[in-house]
Formats: sequence, structure tokens, C-alpha cells
Amino acid sequence: MPTARDVRWQTLAIDREARGRTKGQRPCLIWLTGLSGSGKSTLADALEHRLHESGRHTYLLDGDNLRHGLNRDLGFSAEDRSENIRRVGEVGALMVDAGLIAIAAFISPFRQDRDRVRDLLPERFIEVHVSTPLNVCEERDPKGLYRKARAGELKEFTGIDSPFEVPLAAELTIDTSLLAVDKAVDRICDYLVAAGYSESF
Ligand code: ADX
Repeated sequence: MPTARDVRWQTLAIDREARGRTKGQRPCLIWLTGLSGSGKSTLADALEHRLHESGRHTYLLDGDNLRHGLNRDLGFSAEDRSENIRRVGEVGALMVDAGLIAIAAFISPFRQDRDRVRDLLPERFIEVHVSTPLNVCEERDPKGLYRKARAGELKEFTGIDSPFEVPLAAELTIDTSLLAVDKAVDRICDYLVAAGYSESF
């Protein structure tokens, strides 16, 4: 495997804080983790909309979409999922470095993978566990994938025959079967204010 041993880190004149300042915001990565069908993408989309409407500079990274491009070579083995999250973490960190409020919506079932992303972004990583219970996700089954997984037509499906490791110290936990999308967005925005990321919305 190639290493970065012979590559020096280049210090640049303009840093994350400078880029954030011109945008009038404190860059961060809001990471939504949870089962398929838990409402991550819907919540991420509504959150980005709210932030955008209030003049924030944002970007949304979504699991299904990135698997069409950057991560199209990856499947759903534990190893591929880890690589998926490693890449997304690096891309998210670049976006934070660019001064953006980045939002990521990925099942990201493994604690260690999420914690690695957290370690890349001290004080800038906000983990939101979208904790909608499996039975609700399965009932929603927006893409018919739970049905396929139960029928044995789809292997290694998260929650069925592949694990989801619940976050132990998420900044926020949101169950979309109990909280409407706009209320869930309110909660995340309230957190951004309380934690000093933003003055108000
Ligand atoms: S992750 O586990 O590697 O974080 P990611 O969020 O990128 O997953 O992609 C999940 C999406 O891929 C799901 O929303 C679903 O549409 C689709 N998918 C296809 N096969 C699987 C599978 N075996 N397990 C989970 N999701 C799958």
C-alpha cells in the first residue's frame, strides 16, 4: 500500500477559519447515522434547505448518491462499508476545511468508522443518531429492500443480517417516528446555537 511517508504537508496561507469567516459561519460536519429507511436523507435534505434559506453555505453528502460516483466500486461487506465511511469522512473534512456546513447521511453502522471521522474533526463533528426503530423502517420500506432482505434476495442488509452499532455518545438522538421532520430540523438548529456554531436562525 502506498504511504504518505515521502509527502510533506503543505501549510497554506488561508485556513478553515479564514474560509469560514468570509462565509460568516463556523464550519462543521453534521453526521446522520441510522438504519435504511430511518429518515436520514429526508432529514438531511430538510436541514440543508433550512440552513440554505438562512444564508448558510452548505453541502449535502448522501450515501445512495455517493455510491453512484465516488464510491461506486464499493459494496456492503464490513470492509467496503468501512472504506465508504473513510472516504466520506475525508471528503467531509475537506468541505469543513473549505468553510462549509457539511451534512452527511450514511447508515455508517460501525462505531469505529464514525469515531474515526470524529477524530478527523475535533470540535467540528456533530453526530445525530436517527434512531427510528427497525420495525418502523421495515414498515416504511421506501425502496422495497427490507422485503428483499427478508426474502433472502439481498444479503448483508443492515438490521437484518448485518449489524448496526448504536452510537454511545451522539450529540443528538432523533426518532422520526416520534418527531416530524420540521421539528427534527428545529432540534438540530437549536443544538447548533446552543453549542456555539451559530448565533441564531
Ligand atoms: S453504509 O452502510 O456504507 O453507510 P450507505 O449509507 O452508503 O451505507 O448506503 C446505504 C443505502 O444503500 C441504503 O439506503 C440502501 O438504499 C442501499 N443498500 C443496498 N444494499 C444494502 C445493504 N445490504 N445494506 C444496507 N443498505 C443497502
